[in-house]
Amino acid sequence: MRSAMTVSDLLREGTRTLRESVSESPGLDAEILLREALGATREQLFDALPSPVRPAAAISYRKLLKQRVDGIPIAYITGRREFYGHEFIVNSHVLVPRPETEFLVEFALEWLKQKEEPCRVVDVGTGSGAIAISVALETANQHIMLASDVSPEALHVAARNAEALGASIQFVEGSLLEWLNEPVDLILANLPYLRPDQAHVGIEHEPEVALYAGDDGFSLNRALLEDAPNKLRAGGAVIMELDPEQRDLALSAAHEILPDAGIDILADLAGTDRYLRIQSN
Ligand SMILES: C[S@@+](CC[C@H](N)C(=O)[O-])C[C@H]1O[C@@H](n2cnc3c(N)ncnc32)[C@H](O)[C@@H]1O
Repeated sequence: MRSAMTVSDLLREGTRTLRESVSESPGLDAEILLREALGATREQLFDALPSPVRPAAAISYRKLLKQRVDGIPIAYITGRREFYGHEFIVNSHVLVPRPETEFLVEFALEWLKQKEEPCRVVDVGTGSGAIAISVALETANQHIMLASDVSPEALHVAARNAEALGASIQFVEGSLLEWLNEPVDLILANLPYLRPDQAHVGIEHEPEVALYAGDDGFSLNRALLEDAPNKLRAGGAVIMELDPEQRDLALSAAHEILPDAGIDILADLAGTDRYLRIQSN
């Protein structure tokens, strides 16, 4: 009789299988998927390396591997992604939150730290709710936090995350700031910013509405900036994430639309210019 595969055998098999796929980190992906199939923590998995795996669990694991080979992002397969130290539910209706967006949260927290009174803050295009929820949790829900999206499915995911993580957020379905009746102190946005020719392998399973923004990729951010002067309180600010290629486009649009504001571009840890910050008077 053939002896059962061990954890170690399955890890090796998975790494080999994924090496020939879209995965850029086959070893790590195989480990995450095996942990998922076994319901094991990292420590438990490594403690069990020489142990045999039940055939049913091995079958589940191979099904997960197949999804990854088909290009489905790990976060959609497991249904989870960590962002700013919290675990977010994700599915194919929301963008998988990216590590670089954690800097946008940092800049928002830095700005809010200087305020003594509770502020009105909006996260436009909230997706999984990653930005709004992280800011709300880090500030102990002391600000009035609004979060919007055009996608009702995304808002459903975001509301589940807010509830599970204990963030107090008002969610609104609507485009950009069109729905906003009362001005806010801080506008945060990581809106779609890709041009159609920037489609690439690895993002084809994410929702198009979360990725693309017109021929130059800047149409949504431009429209948001155009409406910002009407929706910001005196002394308010806008912080948005950009495609680094759109740095100059963003700077000239911001200077044209808000000529009296303080405008700067902020970099991520790698030194890449990725965020536009506008401080109104
Ligand atoms: C790049 S994703 C970012 C999601 C989330 N903020 C994050 O950082 O992970 C952009 C989000 O904007 C939403 N969106 C697209 N067009 C929009 C619009 N006109 N108004 C508001 N949200 C929009 C999409 O549905 C998507 O959830």
